[in-house]
Amino acid sequence: MIKKCLFPAAGYGTRFLPATKAIPKEMLPVLTKPLLQYGVEEAIEAGLNTMAIVTGRGKRAIEDHFDISYELEHQIKGTSKEHYLTEIREVIGKCTFSYTRQIEMKGLGHAILSGETLIGNEPFAVILADDLCDNTQGNGVLSQMIEVYKKYQCSIVAIEEIPKEHTNKYGVIAGNEIESGLFMVKDMVEKPEPQDAPSNMAIIGRYILTPDIFDIIRQTKPGKGGEIQITDALLTQAKKGMVLGFKFQGKRFDCGSVDGFVEATNYFYTKDKING
Ligand code: G1P
Repeated sequence: MIKKCLFPAAGYGTRFLPATKAIPKEMLPVLTKPLLQYGVEEAIEAGLNTMAIVTGRGKRAIEDHFDISYELEHQIKGTSKEHYLTEIREVIGKCTFSYTRQIEMKGLGHAILSGETLIGNEPFAVILADDLCDNTQGNGVLSQMIEVYKKYQCSIVAIEEIPKEHTNKYGVIAGNEIESGLFMVKDMVEKPEPQDAPSNMAIIGRYILTPDIFDIIRQTKPGKGGEIQITDALLTQAKKGMVLGFKFQGKRFDCGSVDGFVEATNYFYTKDKING
């Protein structure tokens, strides 16, 4: 079964400068929790216990976050503030973390390939932490995808319908619906202009990938923006075998943009208030 989750986290976060000058964008908090921790919690909820993080220069805060801070523990032990650490302590206790660095920024496909050394020859999940998801009913997005994987044992991408004018911000798929909300991918294009988009079904940052994807990425030529795109590699995989697009249940926030980040913050703030 799937045990490992890869987190590409080497990007510069230029849209959040100057905040991301010294802080990794994955560490920006929605309320009091960094984006990456939301992703790790979603992976744990889906039954995964091995987090493989692809980092880059200037990302050491990520490693420190998923570790014990002895000084802090010592300072607040036995005080009324100790409960603030409960959640992160639980996360650290439930999984292991390993890291590798992406040396050059050559795109998402390349970032995923950089993680091969941490993943090996087994199927794995990928979470892009700046797509923040919340399960409005029942299971988290990754958990839903694992159920689909159990049945079909192939690569799966999470999809969402978006306004057609936004297709140039996403990978876009087209395919045949084989079950309600489940599409066999026939076409997949990275960030097409609306007039060239094969549909309005956008890929969001949740993937399950079978390990043959690594060899395919190695053979994938740079595509959109001169970068090695996972979307292009997945189209090759779809043509050779099968890739599925899965319309998930739940809410997704694009925390890679300031608007989405503010929306997520308001949403989780309101949710927290309601739940006390
Ligand atoms: C990446 C992928 C794109 C996908 C998106 C989801 O783009 O390349 O196919 O739709 O993530 O967030 P990025 O947002 O990193 O530019």
